[in-house]
This record gives sequence, C-alpha cells and structure tokens, in this order.
Amino acid sequence: MKQEIHFVTGKGGVGKSVIAAALALKLSKKGKKVLLVELGDQSFFKDFFELADVSFQPQEVKPNLSLALWTGESALREYAQYLIKVESLAKLFFDNAVMKAFINIAPGLPELAMLGKITSGPRKYGPPMNYDCLVIDAFATGHFKALIEAPRGMAQAVQIGPMGEQSRSIISVLKNPEVTSYHIVSLPEELPLKESTELAEVLKTELDADAELVMNKVLDVNIPRESLQQAESATTSDLGLFAQYIEQQLDRQAQMMDQAKTKFKKITKVPLYFETDPWKLVEKAMEKLP
Ligand SMILES: Nc1ncnc2c1ncn2[C@@H]1O[C@H](COP(=O)(O)OP(=O)(O)OP(=O)(O)O)[C@@H](O)[C@H]1O
Ligand SMILES: [Mg+2]
Repeated sequence: MKQEIHFVTGKGGVGKSVIAAALALKLSKKGKKVLLVELGDQSFFKDFFELADVSFQPQEVKPNLSLALWTGESALREYAQYLIKVESLAKLFFDNAVMKAFINIAPGLPELAMLGKITSGPRKYGPPMNYDCLVIDAFATGHFKALIEAPRGMAQAVQIGPMGEQSRSIISVLKNPEVTSYHIVSLPEELPLKESTELAEVLKTELDADAELVMNKVLDVNIPRESLQQAESATTSDLGLFAQYIEQQLDRQAQMMDQAKTKFKKITKVPLYFETDPWKLVEKAMEKLP
C-alpha cells in the first residue's frame, strides 16, 4: 500500500489545525483511510471538536477519519518498545530519571522519533499503520524547520549503525514527492507570508521539495468597489471608516497574493468564514482545497 504523508505548517495561529482537519476530511471523503495527527504535548482538536480525549492511539472521529496526538516521548517510547520488544524492559528504560533527562536534552531525538513514526509506513519499519494518508498538523515554522532538519543532524552525528541508517531512510521519504507533500498555511499579511517564503526556501534546499501555499482567512466580500467608495465619502460615520478599512484590506491582500505568486507555484485561497460551528468551518474550508 502506498501511503501519502501531508505536512501542514505555517506561522503560529494562521489556521494550520483547521486546514489540516479540512485536508484530512477531504481525503477521507474521497474514500481514503486517513489519520490526522497532532504533534506536540497538547491536543487542539480535543477542545475544538469537544472530544473526550485525544491520545497516541488513534480514535475514529468521522467515517474513514481517525485522530491521534503524538508527543516526542510517546513516539520514542513506542520506538524503544519495538526495538526492545519486552514492554517491561522498555518501561524500565523510560521511567529511569537519567534516561528521561537524556531524552529531553538530546537535540533532535524526540523530533527524530516523531518523524520515524510518521514515515514508518513507507519505510516498512515499526508497528503497521493501516492508513492511506497521514495528515500531520505539525509545528509552527521555527520548530518545523528543526523537525525536518533532525534526521540530517543525526545522520551526520552517527554515520554508522541503525540510527544513521534510519535517519537516511527518513530523509529519503521526506524527499519523495510521490509520498510526501508540504502545505504551508499563511495569511495575506506581510509577516506570515515572509515566514512562509523562508520556510519554503528551507524545504527546497533541505529536501528539494516544492511546498504548496494555502492562503487562509482571505477577505472575500461581494461588495462592489463603487459601493465601498460611496460609503467612504461619508467618512464621518463609522460605516464610512469601515468601508475604507475594507478597501485597504482588499488592496493589501491583492498585493500579498501578487507577492506570493512570485514564490509559490501552487496557491490555494481559503476565505475568512464567519462560522462558529467547528465542523462546519472545517467543511467550508475543505470545499476550497484542491
Ligand atoms: N478560514 C477561516 N475562517 C475563519 N476562522 C478561521 C479560519 N481558519 C482558522 N480559523 C480560526 O482561527 C483560529 C486559529 O486557527 P488554528 O487553531 O487552526 O490555527 P493554528 O495555526 O493551528 O494555531 P496554532 O499555531 O496555535 O496551532 C481558530 O479559532 C480557527 O477557528
Ligand atoms: Mg494548531
């Protein structure tokens, strides 16, 4: 079975989780078996979708769509258990204070374990994962860079033995465009776009990958310019000021889109929705995805 891996990243707060959920839902509706994975210590979706709990073990939240939360430690634990085989020994290893401290300070080790888990399907390594698609609601840009750089760091540090070997096999999965794709979520604003562009450059140099840009929360109003300008002529009223603000926003957005087009081959626009129901928001965003 050929597994697809989709990484969703971007500046903090731009809508990574919503877009990741939308992409996962879209793929599940196409009939794929999808696992949506949150990386980190806390689940966003637990509160967002009002779930009882989100943990390392996947749980189905919609037909064909399961959700899991993978921390560095849980991924390492599973990895050690797989290597050591005997659960009690793995426990001994992990509940040792020295070992815990080592895991927390060894640079890139939790990241490497997460990537090891994410890429375990295509590498045919570790416990089987019966999903057609993994959608990773990944870290924000800075930490995401550290995540994808972790295997190279490890491969350089330990050139021989299983760790170096596995790091290289992780890199080859991350580099394979048939398997792995990168979706950078941005807002039509200066700073998020700058961060997105910088990250895209890192992905290109590090992995020769072409990231797709998802421009999120695009103001999509169906008010003709003339009407806005008419309202503006009454600048003393709040409505006039609001019309002016909207017009400036639209100009700014157009500018950001032009800028984005010079850097990204593939751009998807997702409007700003005034929707309070989380699943409805995700469904609306889903309809805009390719
Ligand atoms: N297209 C949209 N229209 C309206 N609201 C949106 C849209 N996309 C995201 N949101 C809202 O914006 C907020 C931030 O979105 P989200 O939590 O997905 O961002 P994030 O990038 O995952 O944040 P973090 O960096 O904290 O993980 C949420 O309240 C979400 O409901
Ligand atoms: Mg998030």
